[in-house]
Amino acid sequence: MPNALLFPCDPLNPRRPDPHFAREAAAARELGFAVAYVDHDAALRGDAAEAVARVPEGFGALFYRGWMLPVAAYEAMDAALRRRGAFPVSSPRAYRVGHELPSWYPYFRQHSPASRTIPLADGERPTATRLADEAVELPPGPGVVKDWVKSRKHEWDTACFVPDLADTVRLESVVAAFLDGQAEFLTGGVVIRAYENLTGPEVRVWWLDGEPVLATPHPDAREDADAVAPQDVPLSNELRASVRDLDAPFVTTDLALRADGVWRVVEVGDGQVSDLPASVDAADLLRPLLGDRPAVRVREFDGRLHDDPSDVVLFDLLADVTTYHNFLVVERVDTDPPEQFYIQVYLNEDLTLSVEYRDGGADRHFEATLERWGDFAVHDLAAKVLADWTADRPGWRDALPWQPLSDY
Ligand SMILES: Nc1ncnc2c1ncn2[C@@H]1O[C@H](COP(=O)(O)OP(=O)(O)OP(=O)(O)O)[C@@H](O)[C@H]1O
Ligand SMILES: [Mg+2]
Repeated sequence: MPNALLFPCDPLNPRRPDPHFAREAAAARELGFAVAYVDHDAALRGDAAEAVARVPEGFGALFYRGWMLPVAAYEAMDAALRRRGAFPVSSPRAYRVGHELPSWYPYFRQHSPASRTIPLADGERPTATRLADEAVELPPGPGVVKDWVKSRKHEWDTACFVPDLADTVRLESVVAAFLDGQAEFLTGGVVIRAYENLTGPEVRVWWLDGEPVLATPHPDAREDADAVAPQDVPLSNELRASVRDLDAPFVTTDLALRADGVWRVVEVGDGQVSDLPASVDAADLLRPLLGDRPAVRVREFDGRLHDDPSDVVLFDLLADVTTYHNFLVVERVDTDPPEQFYIQVYLNEDLTLSVEYRDGGADRHFEATLERWGDFAVHDLAAKVLADWTADRPGWRDALPWQPLSDY
């Protein structure tokens, strides 16, 4: 984890935090974080260099806590920060999968109301036929309309809720009112979701590296609406696995209890831009973000993670590889971008072992095949290559007959 945080600055005073984030910035300083500010308006304008101009050079690994940004603006901010030696822990890919429904929904299909998405170009309107075609794919009954990131829940009857998805005229009018209201702030397109009978207030669970670190009320929940204490919301193994599969370092899930007693994911969010209710101590959110970030991480077949594995841990994890539990990936998570630096083993059905490494890009991607799994010498050789790669010790490059691997 990083020891640095970025907040939006006060539009009237770039040296001060935006008033909405002032208490988080103060708590961050108190906890020992280095704090710097970005100009949110400049980031929205597309002027990423200007937006990060006040971030000190060499600021290092960081998380952002601020207003929602479009994915393209986040990506530009990420690039501008990296040019200054400041490294957002959440990559643009991670930001997108946490932030935009079409990206997170596939991971949460079983936990979240059925959804259909209609991408729209600037100013484009979906035809009635298209709306009807999508609605018919959803369970019959009422529906809800939103875009990739936001609804107009405050205009529930006119621009959000559709009493019957089979009523295309009504669906079209709700979508039109929604699009009129969103205007140039529409993100991505329209989502039509099956309405579910959700009861009680929503609980926001905050996840860091796939582990729940905090549960809070939803920021819009009424203060007296704590029928269930957030910490008592059950988190099923299936839900935990979905969050891990999302593979984004810092996300939130908004959970609501359905009338039949099942906890449902109403929405996923990037933890950097999810609002913290005023009733929650900011230190409770920020404390888990503090600490040393691992350099290397192993991912097992079932998603289990091991940070900075020792030689012995790698040796044992490799010994657990079977034709079912058939791969291990060791990633360098402190590199830019992380997904371009890894070494992995894959046990093929014919019991040959493929070892593959990627050294920064598609043109530096190599593979070697070892015969045969079950032979201790093969295990020991592969374990040594993994361990040397992980510890950045020389030798592994000459240890196997590497062949270039094409991505296509
Ligand atoms: N499929 C659904 N079934 C029942 N109620 C829903 C459904 N989708 C949304 N809602 C209700 O509408 C509210 C707003 O929906 P959602 O959280 O998706 O939109 P949002 O505008 O992004 O909200 P937020 O303020 O949390 O960012 C939810 O809190 C929930 O009460
Ligand atoms: Mg919501």
